[in-house]
Amino acid sequence: MALKSATLHQLQVFQVAAAHLSFTRAAEALFLTQPTVSMQIKQLTKTVGMPLFEQIGKKLYLTEAGRELLATCEDIFGRLSQFEMAISNMQGLKKGQLKLAVVTTAKYFAPRLLGPFCKRYPDIDVALKVTNRSRVLERITENADDFYIIGQPPENLEVELRPFLEDSLVVLAPPNHPLAQERNIPLHRLSEEPFIMREPGSGTRMVVQNFFNERHVSLRVKMELGSSEAIKQGVIGGLGISVLSHHTLALEGSIGQLKILDVEGFPIRRHWHIAYPIGKKLSVVARAFLDYWLTEGKEIAERTSVELTRELASPSYILRQAVQAASQ
Ligand code: PGA
Repeated sequence: MALKSATLHQLQVFQVAAAHLSFTRAAEALFLTQPTVSMQIKQLTKTVGMPLFEQIGKKLYLTEAGRELLATCEDIFGRLSQFEMAISNMQGLKKGQLKLAVVTTAKYFAPRLLGPFCKRYPDIDVALKVTNRSRVLERITENADDFYIIGQPPENLEVELRPFLEDSLVVLAPPNHPLAQERNIPLHRLSEEPFIMREPGSGTRMVVQNFFNERHVSLRVKMELGSSEAIKQGVIGGLGISVLSHHTLALEGSIGQLKILDVEGFPIRRHWHIAYPIGKKLSVVARAFLDYWLTEGKEIAERTSVELTRELASPSYILRQAVQAASQ
């Protein structure tokens, strides 16, 4: 077998396809087309001389040879990343790479926190992947990044979790909504309203569903949308109400076009965490980043969050809402 002619790229494509048991998902994860993934795997299969996958019904499984090759890939890529770490440790903090994967809601604050770190260490390349919770959890399993930003702790994964910022999930409606001026709205009253929900796999959706399920209140889900930004636009457009993190109100001029309803049991309070797999060896760069994130980064996050809360409670915000409501 001329396995030495297999390229690292083919092995990487195979490893991701084996982790997802799907060529389509592997293509998405690697920013390749599906035919490219199929072609790489076909060539690798030819080199190995035995099938690596088998399809039963609609599902893809690894063959015994595929499982052996997966274990080999894990060895190879594990050794390569140890080597990378050794080199970056030799270079100290001068050069390096840092990979972060954050849940979509964290896009409202995470990039801002990166600013001072990137300025201080201009030769450290930072890659930030923004995706929903279930994808972030998959990336933790794949050991794809150095750090992850998530809300709720994952249930079945062994991770080191450091809280760094508070979060509040709030009920959003357009300012002219009949409930907009009411105080202490009973929770069950929300079940009469059309509700816009995040997509399956979203952490926000999970928190919202658990909150309502635990209180035996059902929601009339009128629509599912795959981003908090789209949900805000839907709420502004009168499609329904929704529950999102208050951080999502920080951008895009939506402040003033959305009203936070005063609902019993709300806001739902929780924390944002920075996470990494227990036992993961942190490079010099990763350790410096974690230190930064939990000190200076945390301060920036807290300051921004206080400013946002102040803005949401300020008379000018309330006044803008009133003007909006009157003109509708
Ligand atoms: P989401 O996650 O952006 O996938 O909704 C937020 C969270 O984990 O709380």
